[in-house]
Amino acid sequence: MRRYGRGGNAMNRDEFFREMTKRICSTLDIRTALMRSYDFLKTAMPVFVLDLSLYDPESNKETKVANIRNGTMTDEAKLSEPLPDGISNELRNFWASMGEITVFNHPAPDRITNAVYRLAEYRLAEYRHAKSNDLSILVLRLELEGKRVGVLIIVAEGLDRFTEKHSNLVAILNEPFSMALSNALQYQEISRLKDMLADDNRFLHRELRARSGNEIIGADMGLKQVMRSVRQVAQLNSPVLLLGETGTGKEVIANTIHDSSSRKDGPFIKVNCGAIPEGLIDSELFGHEKGAFTGAVSRKRGRFERAEGGSIFLDEIGDLPLLAQTRLLRVLQNKEIERVGGTESICIDV
Ligand SMILES: Nc1ncnc2c1ncn2[C@@H]1O[C@H](COP(=O)(O)OP(=O)(O)OP(=O)(O)O)[C@@H](O)[C@H]1O
Ligand SMILES: [Mg+2]
Repeated sequence: MRRYGRGGNAMNRDEFFREMTKRICSTLDIRTALMRSYDFLKTAMPVFVLDLSLYDPESNKETKVANIRNGTMTDEAKLSEPLPDGISNELRNFWASMGEITVFNHPAPDRITNAVYRLAEYRLAEYRHAKSNDLSILVLRLELEGKRVGVLIIVAEGLDRFTEKHSNLVAILNEPFSMALSNALQYQEISRLKDMLADDNRFLHRELRARSGNEIIGADMGLKQVMRSVRQVAQLNSPVLLLGETGTGKEVIANTIHDSSSRKDGPFIKVNCGAIPEGLIDSELFGHEKGAFTGAVSRKRGRFERAEGGSIFLDEIGDLPLLAQTRLLRVLQNKEIERVGGTESICIDV
């Protein structure tokens, strides 16, 4: 069996592949995944820098995704700093023409080796190497289903640090790293789109409310007195009780009060009190801590917390059991809630 590694850390190819794959696929946060990979990779070969970049063959551009130097994750802002022109032009030639694995064990006069070393020195300048040329560099072209997706770069301190064994080991990481990189990218894109959609949704809801909410039939006629009251209470911070026969527009008025108040840009949370099962009322309104009861697998914010900075509309409040109404009254009075299973009171501005 072929065994690689340093010191007591001899391991075989399969173990290496399994452990590295496990680590790079352990999370969709590609930075964390790379850090976990780094921690293991350094037991198998010399690693000073581990660097993961995207590569787009169409534009022949690489974009840094994550970079670890000496065990420390480089700031994201630093990654997007442009390279000096002389380096980036030569590197483009390299990205376009590179083989699956390229090892630079020492500087050489050809233009590509030169550019690769200048890139490494440029990136490592703040570490002030005694001899800045004293580096070995290994570059893996990342491919998925025949398509270039990125580049993995490993830099070690010292000359001639990478052996054929090392490059053979790194070569088997191509697929897991490419896959992890693609997944992370798609996940990022989906998260971005999801945030955008949520944002649009909020915006459109507000627009809709602004349009429909203004139209209260009878505002200048039969509901004149009601509208005067609405304007009065909308400026106050006190709770408002709306009473009326079914279908007389209590919900419409509740919307209008929120929209006419200084809280109109905050959330407007509606709770249909009659629809919450009795045992869940407290957790639904006030939230719960992780492990507060069977099934409380994570901490959850209640409706009151979600309404922070805005208004909460407790519809059909009369349908709540009397005990729950009493607890609610205390919350409305003190403006403080306690999550189920929690010990601290949380101040709310609702
Ligand atoms: N003054 C009004 N102007 C415009 N629409 C109104 C008005 N009053 C009631 N409506 C409409 O009538 C319907 C019932 O109103 P709403 O849901 O506010 O009543 P409610 O008082 O909450 O009734 P319930 O007690 O049955 O819940 C809604 O579609 C609402 O848009
Ligand atoms: Mg109603």
